[in-house]
Amino acid sequence: TVLIIDFGSQVTQLIARRVRETGVYCEIVPFQSAEEGFKRLNPKAIILSGSPASTLEIGSPRAPQVVFDSGLPVLGICYGQQTMCEQLGGKVEAGHHREFGRAFIEIDKECALYDGIWTVGSRHQVWMSHGDRVTAIPAGFEVVATSPNAPFAFIANEAKKFYAVQFHPEVVHTPDGAKLLANFVHKIAGLKGDWSMAAYRDKAVANIRAQVGDKRVICGLSGGVDSSVAALLIHEAVGDQLTCILVDHGLMRKNEAADVVAMFKEHYNLHLVHVDASDMFINALEGESDPETKRKTIGRLFIDVFEAEAKKLGGADFLAQGTLYPDVIESVSFTGGPSVTIKSHHNVGGLPARMNMQLVEPLRELFKDEVRILGKELGLPDSFIGRHPFPGPGLAIRCPGGITREKLEILREADAVYLDEIRKAGLYDAIWQAFAVLLPVQTVGVMGDGRTYEFVCALRAVTSVDGMTADFYHYDMDFLGRAATRIINEVRGINRVVYDVTSKPPGTIEWE
Ligand code: XMP
Repeated sequence: TVLIIDFGSQVTQLIARRVRETGVYCEIVPFQSAEEGFKRLNPKAIILSGSPASTLEIGSPRAPQVVFDSGLPVLGICYGQQTMCEQLGGKVEAGHHREFGRAFIEIDKECALYDGIWTVGSRHQVWMSHGDRVTAIPAGFEVVATSPNAPFAFIANEAKKFYAVQFHPEVVHTPDGAKLLANFVHKIAGLKGDWSMAAYRDKAVANIRAQVGDKRVICGLSGGVDSSVAALLIHEAVGDQLTCILVDHGLMRKNEAADVVAMFKEHYNLHLVHVDASDMFINALEGESDPETKRKTIGRLFIDVFEAEAKKLGGADFLAQGTLYPDVIESVSFTGGPSVTIKSHHNVGGLPARMNMQLVEPLRELFKDEVRILGKELGLPDSFIGRHPFPGPGLAIRCPGGITREKLEILREADAVYLDEIRKAGLYDAIWQAFAVLLPVQTVGVMGDGRTYEFVCALRAVTSVDGMTADFYHYDMDFLGRAATRIINEVRGINRVVYDVTSKPPGTIEWE
């Protein structure tokens, strides 16, 4: 196991991902519980993440001393480098030139960390994102590489197997970064790359059994890959102690609920309850326009339904969710003392504190594409595995402005036509996520001989790896023209279609 100590960087999860890609298991632990994590995991190597904090601020986070006393290899990244230097007797200062983005480092010295990847004298692109920088390195360290603004861009104490870099090897903009991390875990730490999704499955099943015991679990099944995979894992672990509940909140895509139920009935023998709660949800949302209120209302009603269903079963102690790693942004609080605020969660739009079930979230550590691999492992049909993500709050967050039944109906139809065109054009698998949005704007049109005054439909399609960043999909104009014509002809209430060409960032994938 590799222990990744999280100081709150936005990209810590990418470190975990890169390490897992090398076939080595790792876990991220927030810095506040790093010592406990160290004891629990008995790691063979440690990585210190970046951070939005500055080591120059009073009370900024540090790695526990045991990290440096343990004799284990340590890799410090960005802030991790700075705190490592500080803690071992070096010096950090506020940078005169802040560096953000692409930079080039020049290799000055041999180093085991880049063995087989770089050579002395060569130059390489890396990704920097820092204000402070190291200005004096601790005793025993040597400079391996420099950049114009970071004379200590890459330092090492080979005897102790301490390595530290100012740049971010975990991001794709450091093209050789993944190889450096692979070297760290394989060559430096001597870990074998024999961890796989099959191993994850076994471990997850064992963990679920340990957590759940002989208690009852209910699982919200949306038909998305995540909740489906979560349900199958839990079913494998505890069998009939699991009841899956498909809540039709009236915000699903056309025919979605029926399709999902049919797929599960056909392929799996698990207990599935289909609850039509659409009236309850839509009544509560009618007229609501604030995105966060929509999410909270939906989250609250989901829990109401789950609790009511649990009661019918004679009680359930656990609620399972297909929460993924990117949903669980563990933001580390620096000012408010040693507290970790977990911005959970997305799938059901923020769980109310009153919920009296514990969560089972077997996918918390995975990224979407890893979940797909696990889904394959569990025998989910390809058509299911390849499905576009669909947000828990569904069409509610694709209907900006006040929600009405009528608007939801219009949106559902437009979305169905749009996706049908995408499938017909053979583009479904090339797109990461596509959907229609119904804008709360009416415009004038002319159809036949008459004037129309109807809504505008925006089409969205993005490519992405993990939903964290995205580019709009570059359709050809003929496709867009065809989709627009069909939507306007076939969907009553829409007389204009526009295409969203915003990337993420600065936009988000959803409009709300
Ligand atoms: P954004 O809009 O944040 O979306 O760029 C990134 C991914 O997350 C999905 N998403 C949600 N999923 N509950 C969910 O279960 C939500 O409240 C929610 N908001 C966004 C979005 O569809 C995209 O895949």
